[in-house]
Amino acid sequence: MINSPLMTVMVDAVRKAARGLKRDFGEIENLQVSRKGPGNFVSAADRKAEEVLKEALMKARPGYSLILEETGNVEGTDKSHTWHVDPLDGTTNFLHGIPHFAISVGLERDGQIVAGVIYDPIKDELFIAERGKGAYLNNRRLRVSGRQDLSDAVVAYGTPYLGRGSHGRLLKEVAAVMAVSGGTRRFGSAALDLAYVACGRTDLYWERDLQTWDIAAGIILVREAGGFVSSADGGAEPLAARSVACGNEVLHRELIALLRKANAS
Ligand code: IPD
Ligand code: CA
Ligand code: CA
Ligand code: CA
Repeated sequence: MINSPLMTVMVDAVRKAARGLKRDFGEIENLQVSRKGPGNFVSAADRKAEEVLKEALMKARPGYSLILEETGNVEGTDKSHTWHVDPLDGTTNFLHGIPHFAISVGLERDGQIVAGVIYDPIKDELFIAERGKGAYLNNRRLRVSGRQDLSDAVVAYGTPYLGRGSHGRLLKEVAAVMAVSGGTRRFGSAALDLAYVACGRTDLYWERDLQTWDIAAGIILVREAGGFVSSADGGAEPLAARSVACGNEVLHRELIALLRKANAS
């Protein structure tokens, strides 16, 4: 486990917000669902969870800046620390009663992600990581999968919302990956997609058109579990690129090559 004051702050905030999400799951008629854009929904559950997180994080670390999905940016006096907060990652799943969603909180210090927490309240799975201290699922130390052969690998990917990103491009990429991998999956929560690579359930994951709150926590989780994380184009700055590709070193390299080839054709 990671017994640092920072991790205690993050885990306490996330668990507190998760209580509301658990209560609200399945109560769709009372959730004031609205559309932020085509295929992009938000509900009272997202907003309530975000309020709880914001309050807890601001109280514990006054001065830190925040980037919150529903509120936007909150500039703090401390410019070197920024929380990246997704109060409900997998809103579409949540609103359809699909029990696969999470809270994701990452901390950036001087441009580097230094800690991350992703919590799936339905399965009671808490994924945590801190730079140099490893990654854990509940009390178990995590390691990315050791598979070396793409034909054995399960590969997760994400689909952009209606009207956002290029579905044509994604279909080309998915076709290329389907042709050579053991299986493909689209789960609907970018944070959990990263967490599942960190714990070795899936071998690879890639997605474009993301936001920093979707991936900040997951990036450090995968790295601390010994995995490689880049942008979907293979670049070194996934957070800045707002896209990810991750897995173990060998499969990650193969995935990047496959995606490049698919886009060149
Ligand atoms: C979404 C989920 C989804 C991904 C989308 C994200 P939200 O986050 O992570 O898996 O494909 O790009 O926006 O809106 O449910 O927090
Ligand atoms: Ca959203
Ligand atoms: Ca999200
Ligand atoms: Ca969200």
